[in-house]
Amino acid sequence: MASNTDKRCPVCLMKVDTEDRFCRHCGYPLWKDREEDADQRLVTVVFSDMSGYSTISEALDPGDLGDLMDRIFSAAVEVISAHGGLVEKFIGDAVVALFGARKAREDDPINAIRAALRIHRVIDGISSDLGSIAGVNLKMHTGINAGYVLLKGGKTTELSPKTLGSPINQASRLSDMAAPGEILIGEVMYTYARKRFVLEDLGRHRLKGFRKHTRVYRVVSERGEEQVHSNKLHGDSPRFIGRQEELKVLGTAYKDLISDRGVAISIRGEAGIGKSRLVSEYRKKLDDNSTSWYEARCFQSHNNVPYLPFSEIARQILGAGAFMPGLEVLEKRFVSITGSSLHFRYLTVAMGAEDYTTVSDADPGLWKGKIFDTFKLLLDRVSRLGRTVFCIEDLHWADNSSMELLEYLLSGNDNRCPCIFILTHREGLILPYVDTTIQLDEFNRGQVKDMIASLTAGRSPSMSADQSTLELIYSKAGGNPFYVEELTTYLLEKGIVYPVYTTRKGIMTKVPLTVETLVSARLDGLDRGAKLLLQEASALSSTFSRDLLLRVVSEPSKLDKHMAALLAAGFIKVLDRACGLYGFKHEIAREVIYASILRRARVSLHARIAAALEAGSEGEMQGLFDTLAYHYRQSGDTDMSLKYSLLAAERHQKSGSLAEALILYSSAERDIKKTEEGSGYEETLPEIWEGMWSCARIIEPDT
Ligand SMILES: Nc1ncnc2c1ncn2[C@@H]1O[C@H](COP(=O)(O)OP(=O)(O)O)[C@@H](O)[C@H]1O
Ligand SMILES: [Mg+2]
Repeated sequence: MASNTDKRCPVCLMKVDTEDRFCRHCGYPLWKDREEDADQRLVTVVFSDMSGYSTISEALDPGDLGDLMDRIFSAAVEVISAHGGLVEKFIGDAVVALFGARKAREDDPINAIRAALRIHRVIDGISSDLGSIAGVNLKMHTGINAGYVLLKGGKTTELSPKTLGSPINQASRLSDMAAPGEILIGEVMYTYARKRFVLEDLGRHRLKGFRKHTRVYRVVSERGEEQVHSNKLHGDSPRFIGRQEELKVLGTAYKDLISDRGVAISIRGEAGIGKSRLVSEYRKKLDDNSTSWYEARCFQSHNNVPYLPFSEIARQILGAGAFMPGLEVLEKRFVSITGSSLHFRYLTVAMGAEDYTTVSDADPGLWKGKIFDTFKLLLDRVSRLGRTVFCIEDLHWADNSSMELLEYLLSGNDNRCPCIFILTHREGLILPYVDTTIQLDEFNRGQVKDMIASLTAGRSPSMSADQSTLELIYSKAGGNPFYVEELTTYLLEKGIVYPVYTTRKGIMTKVPLTVETLVSARLDGLDRGAKLLLQEASALSSTFSRDLLLRVVSEPSKLDKHMAALLAAGFIKVLDRACGLYGFKHEIAREVIYASILRRARVSLHARIAAALEAGSEGEMQGLFDTLAYHYRQSGDTDMSLKYSLLAAERHQKSGSLAEALILYSSAERDIKKTEEGSGYEETLPEIWEGMWSCARIIEPDT
């Protein structure tokens, strides 16, 4: 039997034979692990290492050292999985964890940093238990970075070190750079992390083994909710734009509140469309000290914690801050609001402050009803103390129990409280029991312009948003305020002044991590077939026809079903139904989706597209030369890409578009030089030079 000594089990990393169907060490079904199961994914990597390990390992006897390491590693594993991460492996005394490996979540980078902070705290705790060992205090140091890696079965593949993403190496280098107790993050993390964490800029560094310099930041601390909130409201946020009608609808609800029935309003719209902003503007308007406002948010990473948003609201009502006060204190407050302690225990169980088994004297089947009644009692009594708003944000991530409780509170008149309920959520969730739904749509061009102007105001005179900048941002972000804001601030942070930017369109090649994470998480919410179709469409272009797509996709029979799913999920839109013309809703999202395709799959996809274009075009192909050149180049077919590059270049040259022709000639020359010393193209090169020379001569007469 042929034995390939390089092959390792992707799960336990032990050596296996090529022909093994199951890993002989851990039983992992290797046969399932075919090439096509490999996945290129956006992950956040945490590389956490122990400081002074060698000193400690010398000082301790091997048994004690083993126990200590077990204690540290199991503490780290617990923290990482509690934050939704996956331990990738242990390397010596370091632990490597991935966030987003199985399923991308919107808050992966935040959870990764939080987990690191927590690991540091836990290890500090263990360390103070132990005291110093041989003069060394146990501490961790951590590096965190994000980017694409190749994954198989949820683990980065050891088999292909070249495709193994550099984010892991970068995280490891950052951890090398970190002093004991420090957490360092890479440049790509910055836009994401700065909103939630206090960061210190450590300047530009060249990490070992990397060619380029990169900016490094130290995580100082996590900002409190209040600070995040006020930062958003007063610091970075653009001036509030549009949405006057929507504010009016909310204002009416306020007037309607006289009734005992209360009002329930939902605000619906895609991610980043401005739901939270509308809520906070409304809140600012109400800010008259006569309204009590309780607000909770649901999280994708905690969508299975029962009653999470309601518990948060209850905590606020009972005046509990970040830390839970003792139960007696809470009970006193509960009694002062409801007049009795009868229901108090149900509340503490729902809030996770007490274990249900220790208090359960009732039948578990009745338990839920009691909890519902308790929340109703509490919310109702609070509503009667004065004007009250309960706001639950991002309801699409709510746990099942909360959804049922909400239905219980809002369906019919019996359980309604005299308050305003505001619920924000994305498309797809239907809440038949709300009184009004406010649908938020995209900004128009004028509003996008206002937004850019407001974001760049006061920066520098050269950064006023000129027309072409606006067009460019609008073409990438569409009318989604989140995308517009992220792209504009990204450009500002890069110090790219607009005039430079407009002359070199290729400059915005990187997508901010904030946008990347959001789109990746949305992509993972699709089922496999629809996701694949979206990736295939992303290789075509921003607009594409159903006909062409049909010739390219791997599952043509399911095309319409998957297209419907993508339309419903808001990734694509119909441009012209009769012609079967579709487009990506946001160009920036298309770029992220395209980047998520494995290189190998991308190559064959472009080959399929090029072949389909050629086969489908009867007669005149002139207009397709550029497109064909592009797809053949991406497919790695140098012959064909050269053929079409030159055809396109000649065509542009003849029609006087010399700059375009020159670019095509140059890229053809580069393609040839990339082949083995240009072999096989000896006759093509002079042709190219000739073309370049005659274009250049006219563009710059002196040369
Ligand atoms: N009407 C608006 N005017 C100015 N900025 C806005 C507006 N709506 C949204 N934004 C900005 O766009 C970003 C995304 O908005 P957000 O309310 O967080 O979206 P959502 O809650 O729908 O996901 C925020 O930074 C917000 O400040
Ligand atoms: Mg929001």
